Amino acid sequence: MSDGIKMNGRTRSKRFWIILVSVIIGVPVFVILVLLMVILIKAAVISTPQCNIGILNNANTAGVADDNILARAERLAGALRIETVSYDANNQNKSEFVVLRNYLETSFPLIHASDFVERHIVNDYSLLYKVSGSEPGKLPYLLTSHMDVVPAPPANWKYPPFGGNIVDGEIWGRGAIDDKGGVMAIMEALEYWLSQGARPKRTFYIGFGHDEEIGGHRGAFHIAIKLKSLGVNKLDFVMDEGLFITDKILPGVSKRAALIGVSEKGYLDLKLEVTGKLQHASYPPNESPIGILGRAVGKIEQRKQPVYFGTGPEADTFHYVASSTDYGIRIFYANMWIFGSLMASFMVKDPLQSTVVRTSTGLTMFNSGIKDNIIPEVATALVNHRVHPGQTIEQVIQEDRISISDGKVKISVESRIDPHPVSPFGPDALVFQTISTSVYQTYDNIVVAPCVFIAATDTVHYLEFSNKVYRFFPTKVTPDDVSRYHGDNERIAIEDYKLMVDFYFRFMQNSDLVFDLAPDDEQPVLTRSQNEDEL
Ligand SMILES: *[C@@H]1O[C@H](CO)[C@@H](O)[C@H](O)[C@H]1NC(C)=O
Ligand SMILES: [Zn+2]
Repeated sequence: MSDGIKMNGRTRSKRFWIILVSVIIGVPVFVILVLLMVILIKAAVISTPQCNIGILNNANTAGVADDNILARAERLAGALRIETVSYDANNQNKSEFVVLRNYLETSFPLIHASDFVERHIVNDYSLLYKVSGSEPGKLPYLLTSHMDVVPAPPANWKYPPFGGNIVDGEIWGRGAIDDKGGVMAIMEALEYWLSQGARPKRTFYIGFGHDEEIGGHRGAFHIAIKLKSLGVNKLDFVMDEGLFITDKILPGVSKRAALIGVSEKGYLDLKLEVTGKLQHASYPPNESPIGILGRAVGKIEQRKQPVYFGTGPEADTFHYVASSTDYGIRIFYANMWIFGSLMASFMVKDPLQSTVVRTSTGLTMFNSGIKDNIIPEVATALVNHRVHPGQTIEQVIQEDRISISDGKVKISVESRIDPHPVSPFGPDALVFQTISTSVYQTYDNIVVAPCVFIAATDTVHYLEFSNKVYRFFPTKVTPDDVSRYHGDNERIAIEDYKLMVDFYFRFMQNSDLVFDLAPDDEQPVLTRSQNEDEL
């Protein structure tokens, strides 16, 4: 009996240990298995969010007819021959903009003769076209591009940058993809529409600034003022240049991806200043302004701004393209909630990808010194940050303060633009889906995704008109093409340019198609100023 009891006790304690050990091992194994299952299932079922707007899903909007491709290519080439270069703020040959304006006039006779299209010359060189729709009552929208280009030193160009050559099916010249291609394609689309005897239902504006590459202060800024003087205080949406149709740029994505910029990084110039005492170099202080400042900028550059990957729309970029990747990569793209920081740690190693995951830090200017044997009194430096939409400008400055950790370095703001608000996207976002539909109608084997635009556009001058601002340049760009932006050998294939015109034509028509769903224009009609005009 007693033996039996002993045995029983031993069995019981044995059982206890077995249970304990299986719990210690089993629970984590179970959790890991469940987690693994969730990760694999998520990757298996993830899909690109689809459009919920029936009228767009059923749309069968036509592109332009093919018969005039070469004439259109030739017209773009002609525009590329006009040297509308922005060298810097006070250095543009303004006559060239007049040449381009006249060129648009002769190239697009129907637009310029139309009873319902008005052209306004804004601040002498920018252009604003008003296309009055046949049906009032809806908020108008704005399409924009810019007429100026960055300089193009010709040394490494295969064909002259302002030659406007068409070779082997490609149109060569500065501005082909940034951004005269946009100017000309928008005009071609409208001209074609008018040639069919059509009149848009919705009123819209077309704005072409003449100084986007140097800030838009003389162009887009004044177009915004002009809009207000025409009684337009609100726009349904703004669509400007931006990212493009990436081809083999997003890792693992088998389709082309049309990236629609729904936000734009902010811009911050900080001035760092250290003041000391003017002293002879033969008895230098322990710490000079140059030494202190040099250490400070070194620390800012080395520590960098924190990673904000996944707090902005870039996480959605991966969600939208995930179903166009192999299952292996999809496991990562579909599970940003767990792999986001791992992906970020890879992305920060690549300078270009790094710009997507955090606020960038560029040391741009460093000034000090007056003579070789004098310790100067002051040293200053400029730091240029492009601010991630997940961060505020105040947070960026605070991070720099922490990096520097030195009260002797005075930080002041030289210029700032907050990150742009994130424009609506997703299945029910009318404008985003109008853009997407126009892309899907125009291009095969493609996926549309929202993204953050890392450079700057003229849209900053239009933000007050609408919370729906999109940045998209509807043409294909391969890794090889990226360096042509502001670089050598800029060009566009005739076939791609044709698709751009198709896209804009479809986009204008689709914007009419959703007329009933578009927001109403509740602004009072400006009868008084009309009377004043008559007087
Ligand atoms: C400015 O542009 C006009 C018009 O094309 C041209 O005639 C003139 O030579 C240009 N001026 C300079 C300084 O390049
Ligand atoms: Zn541009």
